[in-house]
Amino acid sequence: MNIVVLNGSPKGDQSVTLQYVRYAARKYPDHSFVIFPVAQTIRKLEKDEKAFGEILDAVEKADAVLWSFPLYFLLVCAQYKRFIELIFERRRESAFAGKYTASLSTSVHFFDHTAHNYIHAICDDLEMKYLGAYSPAMYDLMKKPERARWLGFMEQFLDSASRRIPYARVYPPLTPQGSVYTPGPLRAGVEASGKKILLLKDGCKPPENIDAMVSTLAANFRGDVEVVDLADIDIKGGCLGCCKCGLDNTCEYDGKDGYIDFYKEKVKKADVVIFAGAIRDRYLSARWKTFFDRSFFNTHVPTLIGKQIAFVISGPLGQISNLRQILSAYAEFQEANLAGIVTDESGDAGQIDSLLAELAGALVRPSAQGYAPPMTFLGVGGRKVFRDEVYGMLRFVFQSDHRYYKKQGLYDFPQKDYKARRMNALMMTLTKIPPFRKKFLKILKEQMVKPIKHVAENR
Ligand SMILES: Cc1cc2nc3c(=O)[nH]c(=O)nc-3n(C[C@H](O)[C@H](O)[C@H](O)COP(=O)(O)O)c2cc1C
Repeated sequence: MNIVVLNGSPKGDQSVTLQYVRYAARKYPDHSFVIFPVAQTIRKLEKDEKAFGEILDAVEKADAVLWSFPLYFLLVCAQYKRFIELIFERRRESAFAGKYTASLSTSVHFFDHTAHNYIHAICDDLEMKYLGAYSPAMYDLMKKPERARWLGFMEQFLDSASRRIPYARVYPPLTPQGSVYTPGPLRAGVEASGKKILLLKDGCKPPENIDAMVSTLAANFRGDVEVVDLADIDIKGGCLGCCKCGLDNTCEYDGKDGYIDFYKEKVKKADVVIFAGAIRDRYLSARWKTFFDRSFFNTHVPTLIGKQIAFVISGPLGQISNLRQILSAYAEFQEANLAGIVTDESGDAGQIDSLLAELAGALVRPSAQGYAPPMTFLGVGGRKVFRDEVYGMLRFVFQSDHRYYKKQGLYDFPQKDYKARRMNALMMTLTKIPPFRKKFLKILKEQMVKPIKHVAENR
């Protein structure tokens, strides 16, 4: 079988993920694996339509396609995202139609599912036949049982593709709502109370709904609002994945473009940050993705703690629950308060005006206390994943994270909780004694609520 591999790592040949492909290629010499470093060469592919066309021609001739990529900020990296955008912009979807496909990523399992959901949905949009996702931890390939597991996946992939098994689309096509948003008369507005409000947008040319929504929201604050178009920030390129930032947050781009200064001076110093953009395929634009990826110079440390944030989105967010989860998770791991998400989906200008007016208040009011809600599974689970990685194998690479996690008490696993250990040892022994066990089960409910009931009634 002739398999085209779309390598989505900015590191090209040095990609960890690619080693899984190479291993499979060596084990299945009867099949050909042709690898294209589409993320690493994105600049060329953007400028050189011929080079892009050659890859798409190879896809067209292939029996199957493998999407191979590292996880970047809950998705694929910006360069890969841009490659996907180019497929649609240059109307080359038909090259993919009917092809069997699968996705492979390596990561630390932080929101790997949202990246694979995204690729799966893109494959559905390209009318491909998606046979599954494979998401190992970075170095799983070094373990014998994991190598066997990977080959197990590949066997099924090759077998299913060669038998041309039936496939049913999982993600329905997106139905765009096409109405133009024309803002109504402005309302009284919310006093910004000296808060620094930063409104970041990926504007459109000619201006679209997102630009009108941003203007309306900005006008809803009485006080200074800084509106910055991402196109006006000096960003030389996407994250290179070099991880130089791990030691002391110094990025490879330091002194080479304006992104890091912008992030430090504007984003970190704002009280309120609003992210505005239009949906492109099933995420925001690749430019937005570049912005998020490049913030990785802060590594695994939250930078928006206690800030009020919001998303203003043009496009069918209600049909992309995966993206809503990504936005919610972003707020949670940043330890920020997601004050709201406003979209133009209703097509009702009056309602959008009201929602934006309300959002302005919802952003300013909790700002004084630096309110952020408790985390859900998205934040709690994510933090534990990072905690274990930074404590373990990644510590020497991400030394600045280690210092931060130690200082903030984020290594919260019960290493030295002697009180809990003593209690567990005693209770586990006692509950083996039948009369004690019987009594224990009888009073368990009452005892469980007792300490918190005391607080509720007395503090
Ligand atoms: C900018 C950046 C963002 C990342 N984001 C995530 C993430 O959201 N989730 C995750 O599990 N790993 C994340 N990682 C880790 C990479 O996915 C992981 O190191 C991967 O194995 C790299 O693969 P590659 O060598 O093929 O590029 C990120 C790494 C970088 C550099």
